[in-house]
Amino acid sequence: MVRISNNLVGILNFITFLLSIPIIAGGVWLSRQGTSECERFLDKPVIALGAFLMIVSLAGLIGACCRVSWLLWVYLLVMFLLILLLTCFTIFAFVVTNKGAGEVVSGRGYKEYRLGDYSSWLQKRVNSDKNWNKIRSCLEESKVCKSLIDDGNTPRDEFYNKHLSAIQSGCCKPSSDCGFTYVTPTNWTKTPTTSNNPDCTAWDSNQNTLCYNCQSCKAGLLDNIKSDWKKVAILNVVFLVFLIIVYSIGCCAFRNNRAENSWKRYP
Ligand SMILES: *[C@@H]1O[C@H](CO)[C@@H](O)[C@H](O)[C@H]1NC(C)=O
Repeated sequence: MVRISNNLVGILNFITFLLSIPIIAGGVWLSRQGTSECERFLDKPVIALGAFLMIVSLAGLIGACCRVSWLLWVYLLVMFLLILLLTCFTIFAFVVTNKGAGEVVSGRGYKEYRLGDYSSWLQKRVNSDKNWNKIRSCLEESKVCKSLIDDGNTPRDEFYNKHLSAIQSGCCKPSSDCGFTYVTPTNWTKTPTTSNNPDCTAWDSNQNTLCYNCQSCKAGLLDNIKSDWKKVAILNVVFLVFLIIVYSIGCCAFRNNRAENSWKRYP
């Protein structure tokens, strides 16, 4: 019984140690390769996560196998903090992604998105100019809007019945309440409008402008983030259960180490 928990902690940490190698390699690859804004804002967190995982699992591995009590103690402390942090983040993610959804527009196959519908914490993030400029150039570089006009000119009625992703609906076309005239999915003639929606003035048929500065574009992005975070939060719950099990086994190993050490010290 004494050795089982030590061996189990050793094996589990060896697995996470092996796992951290491809994560770090992936991060380094991203930073070498990343010429676009989209990739560049991902590489650092990925490398940090990989390095963190590597150090923690090394501490657990050596601590459990070589019976180094203080290393195992550090390992358990870090694990405890990780569980605490992950729990807070998971609860936060569920709260933040609770609000907001696309709105059905009559006569259209796509939904439209309003920034005000989403949690105010998320709104603040995209309303910061620094953040938004990065995201914006990332959206421009990606082919989200270009893909709408790739298959020739869509007739108006066909486009109105189309399903669009949240980002396409928010960023590539003007809001329906502006009442602009359809030419192509990303080219709408501005007409005098009674709508006081600020997005109507933000719209331009220029392919580099489109609705990238619209509130609806930020809302479309938040809708994406919302569903991504929800998936991450659910995955986190599973991961948390796993961590708590590993932590409990780790605690056993730590107790065993101490018991064994004191046995050796006071025969
Ligand atoms: C949009 O369509 C109009 C009318 O066909 C055309 O004159 C204009 O050049 C187009 N604008 C862009 C940016 O493609």
